[in-house]
Amino acid sequence: MSNDKQYRFGTKAIHAGIKPDPTTGAIMTPIYQTTTYAQSAPGEHKGYEYSRSQNPTREALENSLAALENGTYGYCFGSGLAAIDAIIKTLNPGDEVISTNDLYGGTYRLFTKIFQKYGILFNFISMDEAKDIEQHITKDTKLLWVETPTNPMMNIIAIAGVAEIAKKHKIKLCVDNTFSTPYLQNPLDLGADIVMHSVTKYIAGHSDVVMGAIVTNDKEIADQIKFIQNASGAIPGPQDCFLVLRGIKTLHLRMQRHCENGAAVAHFLKDVDIVDQVFWPGFTTHKSHHIAAQQMHDFGGMISFSLKENTKEAAIAILKKFKLFTLAESLGGVESLIGHPASMTHASIPKAEREKIGLSDSLIRLSVGVEDIEDLITDLKQALA
Ligand SMILES: Cc1ncc(COP(=O)(O)O)c(C=O)c1O
Repeated sequence: MSNDKQYRFGTKAIHAGIKPDPTTGAIMTPIYQTTTYAQSAPGEHKGYEYSRSQNPTREALENSLAALENGTYGYCFGSGLAAIDAIIKTLNPGDEVISTNDLYGGTYRLFTKIFQKYGILFNFISMDEAKDIEQHITKDTKLLWVETPTNPMMNIIAIAGVAEIAKKHKIKLCVDNTFSTPYLQNPLDLGADIVMHSVTKYIAGHSDVVMGAIVTNDKEIADQIKFIQNASGAIPGPQDCFLVLRGIKTLHLRMQRHCENGAAVAHFLKDVDIVDQVFWPGFTTHKSHHIAAQQMHDFGGMISFSLKENTKEAAIAILKKFKLFTLAESLGGVESLIGHPASMTHASIPKAEREKIGLSDSLIRLSVGVEDIEDLITDLKQALA
């Protein structure tokens, strides 16, 4: 449990969950690279029995993440998908989930290819208008699944509006907050019951760790997640927890620069001849800009754009020209990355489904890093000339 909620974000990023090591006074949380812990008699121990169940490095990180999301209970997993897996495992066969139809391809794959087999039903809908969700709710609906901004179309979903509907129907709401990070948006404060992260992205921030996390204020949900974390065992190792603890200390500084660079890149792209549409919630012309402005502190460094020549070939020809933006899966690291969702991150979504949400063949996604903006614009200029 975390008691660090009272601090402002930058202070929490540096201090929350962290205590000097009780044996040495080490300021940085040690990497407790141990599977087990000495007991003085059977069942008599210092709170740690076996590292799948408890590990002090992981515990420090879980408390830090809980504090950053203004939550009470935090749990870490071996990947973002392992965290999502744990949340869906709280459901039973016959239960239904209503999810945003524009979401990370791996989440879609986990829902449709793994959990559907076990009798959990998934209904993918547009949540552009929160009130439209109600008509899809049945007596079996147990969970609403929201990503905002969505990946990769940068749609914005009104978390408070969806939370109101969830509460009215006694359904839980989970928000995948990966794109925003707790620096930009705090879903629990807006009424969500669970917030989930691919820690792999901005939170770790250096493209060197794969990890997931869940934060909640709800003791019943926390107990279920803790049970599944231990029973299914998809935990991260202590070295990775250490790296993420280190990454978090600069989360606020990195996010500030991601946002500044993101805004500059989005405005640059808007005036490029061969570019058709630019998807970034910071534009006042974005259909849900007003919601983004309300629920986010800034607009982030994720941008998608389509080309007037709407073909995969045109997109790929351009991707090959970049020198500084690296063509790669993933996002949220300090370095700028570029990707082609239709053939990379979202290839597991059928083409017909992709096109329904506007994920066209020419769509290119940028994760704008924290390099000097002049160099990023120079790279974009030469690639899009
Ligand atoms: C929004 C979102 N959620 C979840 C995930 C899955 O996280 P991981 O790759 O850490 O399993 C990703 C990965 O790209 C993502 O972008």
